Amino acid sequence: MSKSSETQTNPLREGLATRTVPQACSVVIFGATGDLTMRKLIPALYNIAADGELPPAVSVIGFARRKKTDEEFRKEQEESTRKFSRQAVRDEIWNGFAQALFYHPSEFHDAAGYKSLAERLDKIDRERGTGGNRLFYLAVAPDQFESILKNLKEAGLNKAREGSWARVIVEKPFGTDLATARELNAVVHNAFAENQTYRIDHFLGKETAQNILVLRFANSIFEPLWNSRYVDHVQITAAETLGVEGRAGYYEGAGAMRDMVQNHLLQLLCLVAMEAPTDLGADSIRDEKVKVVKSLRRLQPDNIAEDVVRGQYAEGAINGKNVPAYRTEKNVNPESKTETFVALRLRVDNWRWANVPFYVRVGKRLPKSGTEISVHFKGAPLVLFNKEATSLDQNVLVIRIQPDEGISLRMQAKMPGTSFRIEPVKMDFHYGTSFGKASPEAYERLLLDAMSGDATLFARRDEVEEAWAFVDPIENAWAQKENAPPLYDHPAGSWGPEEADELLARDGRAWRRL
Ligand code: BG6
Repeated sequence: MSKSSETQTNPLREGLATRTVPQACSVVIFGATGDLTMRKLIPALYNIAADGELPPAVSVIGFARRKKTDEEFRKEQEESTRKFSRQAVRDEIWNGFAQALFYHPSEFHDAAGYKSLAERLDKIDRERGTGGNRLFYLAVAPDQFESILKNLKEAGLNKAREGSWARVIVEKPFGTDLATARELNAVVHNAFAENQTYRIDHFLGKETAQNILVLRFANSIFEPLWNSRYVDHVQITAAETLGVEGRAGYYEGAGAMRDMVQNHLLQLLCLVAMEAPTDLGADSIRDEKVKVVKSLRRLQPDNIAEDVVRGQYAEGAINGKNVPAYRTEKNVNPESKTETFVALRLRVDNWRWANVPFYVRVGKRLPKSGTEISVHFKGAPLVLFNKEATSLDQNVLVIRIQPDEGISLRMQAKMPGTSFRIEPVKMDFHYGTSFGKASPEAYERLLLDAMSGDATLFARRDEVEEAWAFVDPIENAWAQKENAPPLYDHPAGSWGPEEADELLARDGRAWRRL
């Protein structure tokens, strides 16, 4: 494949909007009858079509083991899309969209299945005008990756013909530590080059995550304050009320650190902490993000217990409903040491963030679901209004990633009245009310970007590997047979173990209430 065909992204400028244009292609989904395909991928493609953004020639080929016809596949996907779609399914749109769905039954390791896939894709190119462009989506467990990639290569499907492109989207988990991530990268790169590879981190596709860069670099009032001179500390919380939801087979071996921190939370931290990129090119942005991960102070075995708290939910209640302990969930080892909660104190060792702690916490079965980043500014000096009190409340800028996407700024105001009473108030921006339209789901944006050749919101090889290099020493310390840092229980429906509060209390700080 020629480099130029891979990098053509057709940026269009509409007023102040820059966007890339998706190109007609065949999207081949490996694992077409799995959960991800039914809950997220097909509904996302349907919504793109309903919004009028899907080139009409785009064709979707489900590749999976079970035998079924195109018609059966369409029917099954229609049912799940009706259940999981962001917008209600409209028959007239679905009927057109369904004609673009095809099913290709084959074992993942069967070379003949890939040869016939190649023939089928050629036929689709001729009949539907997909122009030889192919997007392969690996929506399967990682132990299938190698076989699929090897077979795609052997069938010549990893290389595009002149003027067209071939790309691969790889789902998480991307390895379980640095060594396995490197092995996986080698396996991927044996078939696809880095500029053909799109590693999904669906948090990057969330509207408010993308808005962090706009907030920071399209406004002039925040960036001058965005550093250790004015910022006291930063908090990032990703809380879920859900438990392990039948995914124990995967989660038992992952835990909150591998499941959420290594990828989603570190990605958010990078967007908050990075320097301004030289331009909006995928690599310019990713170059800056990877510098942040490289600057994260590596934790030493001796200070892991001091800077990282791990917890696991015990029995408890959420919204008045009793929920079982993690250890009693289906397929969970009754003596499991898997963490469902983590709180960390991180340091970004560069000039901008010297001595500014980043507190990160994530957990399942917490009292509320919500993901947010809060930037806590230093207090006003102890003069004037501050003379009497020890301090006024800090100014806090909150970026709500979900739900109720938006941004708020807490500041001090005089309470109306004859006395001089100062109270914190909020300036609040809500996506819903300001723009009056629902944000697309992360997968919609990411699929469109992959069809457009825009890798900005996908994790690059070095980002993933550096993130594992940061996480590995913590996982190694936890895995020790003796002297491993403790795993604390906390009741489901509480904000994690008390030790997570102490992590901040020791520094004279407290977690923000969500
Ligand atoms: C996934 C994790 O990547 O992200 C899940 O594997 C987690 O454990 C999910 O529940 C959270 O994503 P979202 O978009 O629902 O916040």
